Amino acid sequence: MKFFAVLALCIVGAIAAPLSADQASLVQSSWAGVRHNEVEILAAVFAAYPDIQARFPQFAGKDLASLKDTGAFATHAGRIVGFVSEIIALIGNESNAPAVQTLVGQLAASHKGRGIQQAQFNEFRTALVSYLSSNVSWNAATAAAWTVGLDNIYGLLFAGL
Ligand code: HEM
Repeated sequence: MKFFAVLALCIVGAIAAPLSADQASLVQSSWAGVRHNEVEILAAVFAAYPDIQARFPQFAGKDLASLKDTGAFATHAGRIVGFVSEIIALIGNESNAPAVQTLVGQLAASHKGRGIQQAQFNEFRTALVSYLSSNVSWNAATAAAWTVGLDNIYGLLFAGL
């Protein structure tokens, strides 16, 4: 019985505090302003956390300023930022919850296989929020909406990592 109570708490913990409709709109409208800045966003992540860049065999040890202009960098930036866009397009509609769980579960599984740990995903989150806070209209409500949204996604991600 105790086991099931703990299990229920864990499951609720992973999906706690769903975004309100207003918060989902705030996340979506702020993301719309930067979602096409794929290269700039990935470059900001690598600049803030070189240990993330070092995990990519094709980017490790290379000068970021020159790397930014390569097709390989643009391709991977498109994958990562495109994934964020895919998730953000799905939030705010309860019927999309299974699709979000599937996509985030796949991301967790593919990165678990590469040995990427929670600490690096947290670094990614910090760099992304820092990029957003200086490139979109940012106030307490926008910050709170992103915190709730990212808490939810990271709850799912870390459950599978
Ligand atoms: C935070 C640390 C992260 C590290 C160190 C990391 C590392 C990697 C590596 C090494 C690859 C393989 C690259 C290749 O095949 O050339 C990869 C693929 C990929 N990553 Fe990440 N990644 C991280 C976070 C993320 C995040 C936050 C997202 C999405 C928002 C993401 C999305 C993807 C996608 C879509 C792919 C290609 C498909 C796949 O293999 O799953 N990654 N990542």
